[in-house]
Amino acid sequence: MVTPALTVDTVIAALRQIKYPGMSRDIVSIGVVKDTQLDGADVYLDLQVPTEDREVIAKVEAAVRETLARVPGIGDMRIQIGPRPASPDSAPGPSPLPGVRRIIAVASGKGGVGKTTVSVNLALALAQSGAAVGLLDADIYGPNVPRMLGEPGRPKADEGKIVPLVRYGLKVISVGYLLGDRSPIIWRGPLVAQALRQLLHDVRWGELDYLIVDLPPGTGDAQLTLVQSVPLTGGVIVTTPSAVALMDAEKGLQMFREARVPILGIVENMSYFICPHCQGETDIFSRGGGRTVSESLGVSFLGEIPINPAIREGGDIGAPVVVAKPESPEALIFRNLAEKVRLEAEAAAVAMPQVIIR
Ligand SMILES: Nc1ncnc2c1ncn2[C@@H]1O[C@H](COP(=O)(O)OP(=O)(O)O)[C@@H](O)[C@H]1O
Ligand SMILES: [Mg+2]
Repeated sequence: MVTPALTVDTVIAALRQIKYPGMSRDIVSIGVVKDTQLDGADVYLDLQVPTEDREVIAKVEAAVRETLARVPGIGDMRIQIGPRPASPDSAPGPSPLPGVRRIIAVASGKGGVGKTTVSVNLALALAQSGAAVGLLDADIYGPNVPRMLGEPGRPKADEGKIVPLVRYGLKVISVGYLLGDRSPIIWRGPLVAQALRQLLHDVRWGELDYLIVDLPPGTGDAQLTLVQSVPLTGGVIVTTPSAVALMDAEKGLQMFREARVPILGIVENMSYFICPHCQGETDIFSRGGGRTVSESLGVSFLGEIPINPAIREGGDIGAPVVVAKPESPEALIFRNLAEKVRLEAEAAAVAMPQVIIR
């Protein structure tokens, strides 16, 4: 039997079968394959991986070797693989979001830990301190920001740009406002990336000191798109004190590290319960895990937020505790958190020129 002649297209098609570790996208579509050459049956590949993590690089190489070995007629493989070198784009330069000084992503390993609650109250507390603040709901799958801020209607378009809504002094945008109930339940990776890029680039953010980005849980397409599209000042990781959530938080943290995004710190939410009657504090989960993880990973601990019905109700009725009960102990806790985040963000911005990975 004669095997068909090997072509570069066949090799690329085989490489498209390989998913980037932890992502739904393949290594070709995220630009890992820089060069493919054939010399008869022998193949030469130049692979540049968007991380310095040796384990991830080794995984990609092993998957490439295994996949190509199954391509009929393939000869020797010469694979050059390493981290993607910093491109000229990574030099501090004009921001792709002109007028936006700092972009802070709020992430968590899993859902339901209070990421949106923290994003909303953090953004409002920063705004209360006098900063110009925007909030981007990047949780394309489950946009909860509209509910937490109340229902202020639909954003308008102006000269091809989306005008963000203004809520309690925050400029805010969410697919929830744009699509309402028509938001598809299942988004394919490329659509998520496209929607998020639009929310970043096609919105008239104007002058902002801080743009807070509420990410979906986990480490997927939205996270990758965000780190590839704009220079992030840093990431804030939200976790609950339970062991599983903490493990997931570590994964989220790893994602930022791989993308060379500074980690501003870890917040422990639903940390403890203050009894409304006796003011006694009860540790419902094992309080303090967030601090321990921060210490062992060498990142800042940003604070503990108690579990409190006022925090949940504020979110449910569209009046977050920071604005609805500004004198409450919970509001004070969020304001302290905001101050820590502000300090960490300013320190990160000075310490590290912002990196964009393309
Ligand atoms: N500290 C808290 N105290 C009480 N309820 C909270 C607290 N943090 C979050 N919640 C509630 O928990 C639920 C999940 O929070 P949410 O912010 O939507 O999580 P995520 O964005 O991580 O999925 C919401 O109903 C929210 O009001
Ligand atoms: Mg959420």
